[in-house]
Amino acid sequence: MLASRIRTSQASSRLGTESAFDVLARARELEALGHEVVHMEIGEPDFNTPEHIKTAGETAIAEDYSHYSPSAGIPELRDAIAEYASRFRGIEPYDRSNIVVGPGAKPIIWNLLSALLDPGDEMLYADPAYPAYESCASYLGAKPVPVTLLESKNFRLDLDELAAKVTPHTKVLVINSPHNPTGGVLTRDDLTVIADLADRHDLIVISDEIYSRNIYDAEFLSISTLPGMRERTIIIDGFSKAYAMTGWRLGYAIMDPALARTVTLFNNNTFSCTATFVQRAGLAALRGADEPVEAMVEEFRKRRDAIVAGLNAISGLSCTKPEGAFYAFANVSAITQNDRALASFFLEEAHVGSLGGSCFGAAGRGYVRFSYATSLGHIDLALRRIASALPRFRSAA
Ligand SMILES: Cc1ncc(COP(=O)(O)O)c(C=O)c1O
Repeated sequence: MLASRIRTSQASSRLGTESAFDVLARARELEALGHEVVHMEIGEPDFNTPEHIKTAGETAIAEDYSHYSPSAGIPELRDAIAEYASRFRGIEPYDRSNIVVGPGAKPIIWNLLSALLDPGDEMLYADPAYPAYESCASYLGAKPVPVTLLESKNFRLDLDELAAKVTPHTKVLVINSPHNPTGGVLTRDDLTVIADLADRHDLIVISDEIYSRNIYDAEFLSISTLPGMRERTIIIDGFSKAYAMTGWRLGYAIMDPALARTVTLFNNNTFSCTATFVQRAGLAALRGADEPVEAMVEEFRKRRDAIVAGLNAISGLSCTKPEGAFYAFANVSAITQNDRALASFFLEEAHVGSLGGSCFGAAGRGYVRFSYATSLGHIDLALRRIASALPRFRSAA
C-alpha cells in the first residue's frame, strides 16, 4: 500500500478510542465464520426497545417528522426531559432552556467539553473511565488528570487523591455514578465531600448519570441535589441504557441556560440537529409506561448476581459486586497483568467478547470488563467457556 500523502492534524493524534467498537467488529467477523459468540464486550442492553417507543418512532416517520429540528432539540422533548429530570431526581423544576439534546450522550459530552475547556485547563476524572472524556479533553489541548478508583472501596473514588490533585488550573471534575466500566456507585458521603471540594475550588461538575436507571442496591442520588450544586453541575443522561435505545442515538445534557446556548452552538456547527422522528420516540419513552424500564432493571439484577457468583467460582478470577450499570469488572491480576491479551484470548479461543480493563485507563490494568447485558443462558455459557479455556491461557503464558 502507498504511504498516505495526507497529513492529519496534530490534535487528531491525541484522540483516544472506545475499544468496544473494535472488539465488536472482530466478534462479528468470527460470527461470519460460523462461530457463536457471547457478546459481553459492548455496553448495550440486549433487550429490544419497548413496543410503545418503537410504535411512536414508526408513527413519527409516517407523519413526516423527517425535517430538520432546532439544534437544541424539539421543544416538546426538551419540556418532557426537564419534567422527568426534576421529578426523577427530586430537584426543583428545570425548563427547556436547561436542556440540550443530541444524537447520543457521547456527542453531547464532546460538545460540552468543547464549550468548557481551553488549552491548559485541567479536568479531573476517574480512572478507569468511559474513554470519551479523556479523548476529548486531550484533543482540546486540556490536561486530563486521572484519579484512581479503588477496588477496595468497591470502585469508588479515593477522595484524598481527588483533593490532592486539584490545582489552580482545575476547571472541570467529571463523575460517573453508576460507573462504567466498574459498576461502582458513589455514596451520599462521597458526593458530599466532592460537592464541598467543588464549592471550595469553584469547579464545574459534569455528572454523567446515563446509568441512573441501572442501579440495584440503593436509590439513585444525583450530586445536583446537594446544597449549592444545582448551579455548578451539568447532568449527562440519555435513552441508550435505560430504554434499550442504543442504535436510535438519543441523549441530552442539563445545564445552566447560558452554557446551554453555547453547547447548542456546537450542535449547530457539528450535527445541526438530532433526527426528528427519533426525538418523537424519545418523547414516548418519557411520557409512556415506565414498567419496561423497571422490568429490565430486575432482569439486570439477576444477571449481575449470576455473573458475579460465576466469576468468583473460577480459579484466578475475583469480582466485587457492582451496584449499578451492567458491567462486572473482574480482577484477573492473579492470572496476568496483560488484561487485553486475556480479553483477546477469551474472544478468539472461547468466543466470549469482553474488554481489557486497561482500555479504560491505566488503573484498569489487570481487570477485564464483562457487560452482563446478555441473557442468563448466555452468561452461563460464557462462564463455562471461560473456565474451560483458562488453563490453556495459563500454560501458554
Ligand atoms: C458513562 C457513559 N456515558 C455516556 C455514554 C454514551 O451513551 P450514548 O452515546 O449511547 O448516549 C456511555 C455509553 O457507553 C457511557 O458508558
